[in-house]
Amino acid sequence: MHLQKLSREEIIRKLKEYASEDFEPKSGKLFTIAFEPGIEELKEIIFDAWKMYAEKNMLDFTEFPSAIKLEKDVIDIARSLMNGDKDVVGTYTFGGTESVFLAVKAARDNFLLKKGFTSLPEIVMPVTAHPCYEKAAEYMGLKVKRVRVNTETYRADPDAINEAITENTAMIVGSTPNWPFGTVDPIEELAEIALDKDLWLHVDACVGGFVLPFMRKLGEKIPEFDFKIDGVTSISMDPHKYAYSAIGASIVLFRKSFYKMLSQYANLRWPGYPIVNPAVLSSRSEGPLAATWAVLHYLGEDGYTELARRILNARKKILGGLKELGYKIMGDPTVIIAFTSNEINLFKLCDEMVKKGWVFLAQKGIANIDIPPSVHLTLTPVHENLADDMIKELSECTENLKSIPKSDLEEFIETFGLMMNFLMPTEMDLASISRLLSEIERYMATYGPKLLEALGFEKGLTREMAVVNQMFNSLPPEIAEPLVNYVVIELFRRG
Ligand SMILES: Cc1ncc(COP(=O)(O)O)c(C=O)c1O
Repeated sequence: MHLQKLSREEIIRKLKEYASEDFEPKSGKLFTIAFEPGIEELKEIIFDAWKMYAEKNMLDFTEFPSAIKLEKDVIDIARSLMNGDKDVVGTYTFGGTESVFLAVKAARDNFLLKKGFTSLPEIVMPVTAHPCYEKAAEYMGLKVKRVRVNTETYRADPDAINEAITENTAMIVGSTPNWPFGTVDPIEELAEIALDKDLWLHVDACVGGFVLPFMRKLGEKIPEFDFKIDGVTSISMDPHKYAYSAIGASIVLFRKSFYKMLSQYANLRWPGYPIVNPAVLSSRSEGPLAATWAVLHYLGEDGYTELARRILNARKKILGGLKELGYKIMGDPTVIIAFTSNEINLFKLCDEMVKKGWVFLAQKGIANIDIPPSVHLTLTPVHENLADDMIKELSECTENLKSIPKSDLEEFIETFGLMMNFLMPTEMDLASISRLLSEIERYMATYGPKLLEALGFEKGLTREMAVVNQMFNSLPPEIAEPLVNYVVIELFRRG
């Protein structure tokens, strides 16, 4: 059996060793999924709260009624931030994806109740909406239509949404802001469509829910996006993003209690205890909920306003620096900046910055709807003091990359990708997808190890991701997705 006993010291030593190649969120050099407020005491409070409640299980709130009290308080805060009235109810979940799953389930069931079963219910959303909607759709039997956005503003195009709606549409989505570009969709216009066509409108405020209201207080022009607008049916917002809570914290709010009922799961059909799950998971530690309650009250309105101010300062410095270096800013950024360039290989730029310890996210864009590749920067309060250093090093990397021409391999991947995209049908039916997957299973057995070697993964993870990014991003998603799954399975298998 592969189960070795270790001493307490050995366990700690080993855990430190495993973490040795991780980037440190506290360094402030991550512009990704690390929401770092830069307040040491806040971390202590979060982890104290977490530890106090770690062993309590939200599954049985009759055994641990604190789960009800903590959740009610946290939901009340979220509801007031989103201007919800007393009918608005919510659920605490472990992440934005889980919140979206609940909203999609409720929207699907509401659609089926109203219309009776027709064909697959559909979600219509801008191409910039997070993939968790497709994930929810895949798990729960819906179909997603992604539609073009305005390529000047990178905001949802209400006409495009309107055109894509059919009698099978169950839900439309707007993001505030979206993850790729940090731009806020026109929720008021989407709400008009939703009211007119009697559709569920979900506002994805996973990123912005806990920060945009405070930016607005500081004078920023942020379009309305909450329950003040008739036609908004549900909103998701994540304390583990800009409320700076521990990871495992999201909230979904519903306009009325019946919608929440459609999102829940109850089962009284077995010989065991009654199951009533407000969220997707059943057993859940109360730790993240207690940590969220703690951080919200530790920072309070003033704390969040001050942290929003620091993000605005960071944004001003970084936008200035990027423009001076010749980068084009995509749309009107909020807490996320995306930039692009005709001159610089942005995937390589990300690799060069990683060598200096700065983590940026490379984004592929979508060539056939004029969204170019870009770099994504998630801004956090800790960046206020590091912005100048970052821009200085970015300037050096930019200069170096200007003098490097495209390699033969890059040229090849680009042409190959274009060719594959050209050959691929725009929409695949189930039969073609299953044929493709069985071909891939056959080919991977023979060529999989060669693929890993070619991408530089044969010895595990690499920090040189430019070619990998370019290759996966240039292939049609129907081919790239199974390949990337294969690579990730192998990475985790090999350790
Ligand atoms: C707009 C948006 N919605 C939903 C999600 C999913 O959140 P999570 O990663 O917490 O599941 C994200 C994640 O970045 C997001 O940016």
